[in-house]
Amino acid sequence: MGDRSHETARPASKTLLNLGNLPPKQMNFETTGSSFPRRASRVDPNNPPWPAYRGYHEYSFAHETMGKRLPTILGKAVDDVIKTLNEQHDEDLILDLLRCIDRMHKLMNELMNNEVLRPIIDDGEGDIPLWNKAIAKYFRGKDFMNAPWLFAEAYKYRRLHECFSLSRYWKNYDVFFRQKCDTFARSNTAVFELSTRFATPYKEDTSLTAVEQEKLRKLLFLELTQIALWGNATDLSLLINMTEEDIKKIQSTGGEHLAATEQNILGNHLSQLWNLVKGIKNGRIDIVLDNAGFELYCDCVFADWLVQSGIAREVHFHGKRIPWFVSDVTRKDWHWLLNAMNYTFLFHDASDAEMQSLRELGKRWRQYETEGKWIYEQHPFWCSGYTFWSISTEAPDLFQYLCESNLVIFKGDLNHRKLTYDCQAPTGTPFDIAIGPLASEPGAPPVLSLRTIKSDVVVDIPLDVTARLDEEEPGWRISGKYAVVLLSDPMKQEEHLRNAETGEAQDF
Ligand code: F6P
Ligand code: MG
Repeated sequence: MGDRSHETARPASKTLLNLGNLPPKQMNFETTGSSFPRRASRVDPNNPPWPAYRGYHEYSFAHETMGKRLPTILGKAVDDVIKTLNEQHDEDLILDLLRCIDRMHKLMNELMNNEVLRPIIDDGEGDIPLWNKAIAKYFRGKDFMNAPWLFAEAYKYRRLHECFSLSRYWKNYDVFFRQKCDTFARSNTAVFELSTRFATPYKEDTSLTAVEQEKLRKLLFLELTQIALWGNATDLSLLINMTEEDIKKIQSTGGEHLAATEQNILGNHLSQLWNLVKGIKNGRIDIVLDNAGFELYCDCVFADWLVQSGIAREVHFHGKRIPWFVSDVTRKDWHWLLNAMNYTFLFHDASDAEMQSLRELGKRWRQYETEGKWIYEQHPFWCSGYTFWSISTEAPDLFQYLCESNLVIFKGDLNHRKLTYDCQAPTGTPFDIAIGPLASEPGAPPVLSLRTIKSDVVVDIPLDVTARLDEEEPGWRISGKYAVVLLSDPMKQEEHLRNAETGEAQDF
């Protein structure tokens, strides 16, 4: 045995190889730009797998949003608070609210002057470490325009909340609440279209054969999935210039319209989705909600059928802890909807039968809550600036919890941006690559994205389709006219790999 302590056993400090027959060095390699992702180990919130969208990219929707839409939204928020102020009689409350308005003006100045993102002031809320760690670790010195768009935009909504959380009497004030209620009231046509169809409890037609029943179940499921999908088309932050007629057109839920809209689903995993869902009996479905009012109502119609059909024994609805991206669901919006259906007089022109159908639905949904079949929850992670690539590291409890689900459905555009790291991934990138750890971590649940496309990032759509749309309809990425239904099913992937090893055919 050699003596490893001997000086000759030490590794040589440098080894020179004199090789004269290797091919000559070339220096003319082109970088392939955005088509190669960073390795997962090199990814962090300021360095997504592909280049981030940032506010200073003048060609992007990020620029439009950071420079114009956010100041407009903030200005309207100030108007809302002034309206509330004018309704007060107690001086303490008035002075406290004036200080909130003052903080909103400061935020507006910071936004307009593109200032550096400062830490969130400790207002005693549980999400402070989540925010301030991200700012200190990844965004120190970054401003509204050069931080990744996703983080800067989310940060603005947390700062807006801070304007109130630092107050004494207005901690939970929601500057968007009035708007959210109004839009539901204005959605009457579509609301009754659904309530008059779904108030009567769902029953399978026993005169049909098992095969026919299964076929009908499938068709109904696919149409309800589309209702939940297109319910996302209206988002208050984009509604600034829409007429009531425009809104009604988007919200139409008639059969013909739905058939036509399937053509607008550019990445369409609906049949894989049914293959997964038809095998779930008394399972758990999670819906990571997006918008309040009409979209939430559509989600509930969908969830109602999932329970009645025996697919789900329980549905977990994940909402937002604070007012978020204008229209997102908070606990208050959740209660408001159920109470509005049961008690209020929102719809002046509705017939008695229509109102009764709405109350029947509302009663059944309340009952689900009482029985624990519907559970509303709100983890602070959903209102952070992190993307969902970071769930297992930044919110391991939430990740574990979601792993117990048979299917986690993410609604809407913002959730899709967070799933895909909101970066310039090539449009052909498969969904389960684009969502990273949420598809690949051991135990990850099946993940579905139901999203109408309202911002730049798009994945799992054939390149020729996106190239044609870029050419013919330059606004297609933000119009909400197109959508994706994308599924990642880790079990299917495992099966796929196993079959590839054994050489068996697969239909995935
Ligand atoms: O401000 C832009 C945005 O964040 C986009 O994601 C989208 O246009 C909208 O706000 C939110 O849409 P959604 O409610 O579907 O998440
Ligand atoms: Mg939203």
